[in-house]
Amino acid sequence: MAGRHFLDLSDAGPDAIAAMLANAIDRKAARSGWPKARPDADQPLAGHVLGMVFEKNSTRTRVSFDMAMRQLGGAALVLDASSSQLGRGESIADTARVLSRMVDAIMLRTDDHAKLEEMAHHADVPVINGLTDLSHPCQIVADLLTLIEHGKPLPGLEVAWFGDGNNVLNSILEAAALMKFNVRIATPQGYDPDARFVEMARAAGASVVHTRDAAQAAEGADVLVTDTWVSMGQEHTHNKLAAMAPYQVNEALMARARPDALFLHCLPAHVGEEVSEGVFESPRSVVFDEAENRLHAQKSVLLWCFGKL
Ligand code: CP
Ligand code: NVA
Repeated sequence: MAGRHFLDLSDAGPDAIAAMLANAIDRKAARSGWPKARPDADQPLAGHVLGMVFEKNSTRTRVSFDMAMRQLGGAALVLDASSSQLGRGESIADTARVLSRMVDAIMLRTDDHAKLEEMAHHADVPVINGLTDLSHPCQIVADLLTLIEHGKPLPGLEVAWFGDGNNVLNSILEAAALMKFNVRIATPQGYDPDARFVEMARAAGASVVHTRDAAQAAEGADVLVTDTWVSMGQEHTHNKLAAMAPYQVNEALMARARPDALFLHCLPAHVGEEVSEGVFESPRSVVFDEAENRLHAQKSVLLWCFGKL
């Protein structure tokens, strides 16, 4: 296969992630103030097309990959499960083989991570993880970019997570392993992250403190992060919301963190649930920079997948 799959951050590794972040910073600066659809001067993906397959909803991932391809000189198209043959039972394997004949890379957003691996196994072109129930690596490249831009070098950073131990947290733990920062996790019983990601971070030398006490996790942290309490495809149960309530990122929790601590959220947010309006709208909240950085991060991911980084 020409090119490389990006199923998780470890596929790239620390040096490539550092290169992606540096490239994103350079490209973002080089086109500052330009009309959004004007291609970058070098058009490194001219003549290339990305096929995006969505088995779940998306705003940021869909728009950022589409605009990323335009800015890199290429194009993108979308297949929704509901309107494609995937939604009528055509296999992932056959879809991968067909798309490989017509597009130069595939981005898949799906539920079961095994479907992503199957897509990669059968595709002859790079496959990118646009979110699975297990992980969301593209989001984390944007998050790391946002932290660096806001003056927070990654090594040794204390990143605190509150609420549901979900796909986004799993990828933060993988990033901690690769980029040498530390993670404090505050989740209620029964909603812990995947143990393999905790182990990966610890094995790489990152400190991972897991507590049921949100205040303890926030104490002196550099970054506070949360996400929806109910991810796509999950049940919206009263029990889960009740269990999550003590883990809301609010002004009292922010007050325990460093005075210059930042607030991150991958969005979409449920203001009043996982985050208070006061924190979400505060100057320490950089969630819309983080959302914009999906575009700049996705360009770097694409360039790496095409062997151009
Ligand atoms: N953060 C994120 O992945 O957003 P979308 O679900 O809108 O793509
Ligand atoms: N954890 C969320 C992230 C959405 C971008 C979900 O999987 O729905």
